[in-house]
Amino acid sequence: MRLAFITSNPGKVEEARKYFEPLGVEVYQLRVEYPEIQADTLEEVAEYGVRWLSERVEGPFFLDDSGLFIDALNGFPGVYSAYVYKTLGVDGILKLMEGVENRSAHFRSVIAYWDGEVHLFRGRVDGDIIHERRGSGGFGFDPIFVPRGFNRTFAEMTTEEKNTISHRGRALRAFAEWLKENLK
Ligand code: IMP
Repeated sequence: MRLAFITSNPGKVEEARKYFEPLGVEVYQLRVEYPEIQADTLEEVAEYGVRWLSERVEGPFFLDDSGLFIDALNGFPGVYSAYVYKTLGVDGILKLMEGVENRSAHFRSVIAYWDGEVHLFRGRVDGDIIHERRGSGGFGFDPIFVPRGFNRTFAEMTTEEKNTISHRGRALRAFAEWLKENLK
């Protein structure tokens, strides 16, 4: 089976492949722009995107909508993470967090899979925003996020390490487990 991951981010595809290879499912990247609506939840954004695409792309396919939620900023950038990354970047977040004592934050990921209907899978990882960038791996806000129980940032980990604990890793695991059952 071949499964399209609709994203412009090759880093996400690399993370996903590791979960599906053992199932004999080949994940490939499909770059199709789709509207990311302004909504309060990742679920709404992901579900709207997958329904919009279902009228334009041959299934099966999935997409992921994720975000960084910082407690001291009342969950910002949250559903606006992609926009904030593009505009303020990692340095902008570090600036907003200057002098802020409560560094706790979490990443959340919602995967929306389309096979004629929508299926949602979720994952979350808690951690802290550090004071300076560290590491060169990963993407996005990885260099400033240290998952709880670790002392390295996501950008200082291998893809495998990040996968075992990350929000997307967890959502992908739930998706892969579901697919295994449903492919029988
Ligand atoms: P989207 O899911 O493509 O809309 O992107 C959400 C934004 O959140 C990305 O542009 C990244 O900046 C950030 N993000 C999502 N997942 C991760 C991750 O695993 N590491 C670092 N940043 C992430």
